[in-house]
Amino acid sequence: MDTEDFNGSSALIARVKDYAKAVLTKERYEHLVRVAETAFRLCKKYGLDASRGYLAAIAHDMCKDMSDEKIAALAREDGKAITPLEAQKLSLLHGRAAAVMLRVDFGVTDNDILQAVAVHTFGEEGMCSLSKVVYVADKIEPGRPQMTKAYSASLESLSLDELVEKVLADGIAYLKKKGCAVAPESERLLRSLNCR
Ligand SMILES: [Fe+2]
Ligand SMILES: [Fe+2]
Repeated sequence: MDTEDFNGSSALIARVKDYAKAVLTKERYEHLVRVAETAFRLCKKYGLDASRGYLAAIAHDMCKDMSDEKIAALAREDGKAITPLEAQKLSLLHGRAAAVMLRVDFGVTDNDILQAVAVHTFGEEGMCSLSKVVYVADKIEPGRPQMTKAYSASLESLSLDELVEKVLADGIAYLKKKGCAVAPESERLLRSLNCR
């Protein structure tokens, strides 16, 4: 991808990328790049600033290989309550931790980018369009096993809200089938999209 595509944020993107590459496993870093490229493409498709999508996506999992304690300590700096589900599994705070790090260590003040990183795991009712793109890109990047040609084609004609609704509904169905807990934030987001 050409750095000119990044609308003046290429130096910042390069710094976050270098950090992520240095601290993450190779597999995780490759996931980040695929999510960033997917977010870039989706931003262009839905009329959003693609460089902001790329930046949020390249940062979204940058804290995921930290210890639970470090993730929780960083996440607490956002001043929000830790939910019961997050308290049960501290690694679920890795998005909130990454948003804090992006703001404090990388100087990002764009609230949509920070929200997109913070809520990428569960989504959030009323989240901004950039958050929707990053949420979806994380789940439909080409390395995901469910991303067959047919599944990918079934998403092509959807609006951004329809895409979030489909990906969210499929994700919740998968979690329920496996007997895993579904975050109330995700359930609320799906209900809000169903009631549009
Ligand atoms: Fe994540
Ligand atoms: Fe991810």
